[in-house]
Amino acid sequence: MIKRIGVIGAGQMGSGIAHVCALKGYDIRLVDVDQPHVDKGIDAIGRNMDRQIGRGMIRPEDKDAALGRIATATDYKPLSDCDLIIEAATENEAVKREIFKKVCDGLPANVLLATNTSSISVTRLASVTDRPGKFMGMHFMNPVPLMGLVELIRGIATEEETFRTVREVVVRLEKKPVNAEDFPAFIVNRILLPMINEAVYALYEGVGNVEAIDTGMKLGANHPMGPLELADFIGLDTCLSVMQVLHEGLADSKYRPCPLLVKYVEAGWVGRKVKRGFYDYSGERPVPTR
Ligand code: NAI
Repeated sequence: MIKRIGVIGAGQMGSGIAHVCALKGYDIRLVDVDQPHVDKGIDAIGRNMDRQIGRGMIRPEDKDAALGRIATATDYKPLSDCDLIIEAATENEAVKREIFKKVCDGLPANVLLATNTSSISVTRLASVTDRPGKFMGMHFMNPVPLMGLVELIRGIATEEETFRTVREVVVRLEKKPVNAEDFPAFIVNRILLPMINEAVYALYEGVGNVEAIDTGMKLGANHPMGPLELADFIGLDTCLSVMQVLHEGLADSKYRPCPLLVKYVEAGWVGRKVKRGFYDYSGERPVPTR
């Protein structure tokens, strides 16, 4: 029975996961590297809950109760009384390995571990822990409060009991669980990210400008968001990491990250979270940059 959930990383995804879990009555411990990052996550949760109140999805008292269930920290020790810990830190294998090694230090043996990685091998991450049987992938979609899917990924050692318990949490969150095998980027990003990468190639090669590419896919393929706008929303750093995992993991040149995507990440133009990506978000409306 899961009652208390630890969430590591208070960025877009970690704050979203803490948000939906707290609304469903779970006690949350939200951890990031320092207080400003934690505060940013809590602010985002408050703002997103206000939006839900505005749409009549939750009541102001639901927000107050949910925020009251979220405790924060800047180290992993307070996670020791959790039943399940969900890691949602930066998409970088070295970072995640380091986190899981540290988290396991002194952690009671019954605590389940999950990673929200978009692409990295669950089996490989599990292998740095002292409990591969109690480890699995739990891949939420962005924005977590709005998106209905969670991919569930078993590592080679994941025990059935772990899978069943985590699946029950997903169902209680009123999300649809879908099983994916432990292949690079699983199902959704295996299909989505090469499309986004192709859109960046189309921009790089001058097939169209930002507006033409996004409008083309919105009106021509009935996508709710253009691929470049979506890339900015996901974070270009995350998009690049996923493409690198696909490229290395499947050893196929069709997954080669577009050099323009690499350049944008090198420039720090990683999308909406820094107000600059394929669009400039510093004004009232996003403005295409190319
Ligand atoms: P983000 O950049 O918004 O947030 C990452 C957070 O992790 C930052 O607040 C950072 O300070 C924190 N962090 C880094 N190292 C840490 C450490 N050692 N301990 C604690 N916190 C640490 O990134 P985002 O978008 O929230 O992504 C997080 C994870 O979720 C990644 O694995 C990503 O692939 C995955 N994901 C992202 C989606 C997206 O659309 N952005 C969708 C689904 C999964």
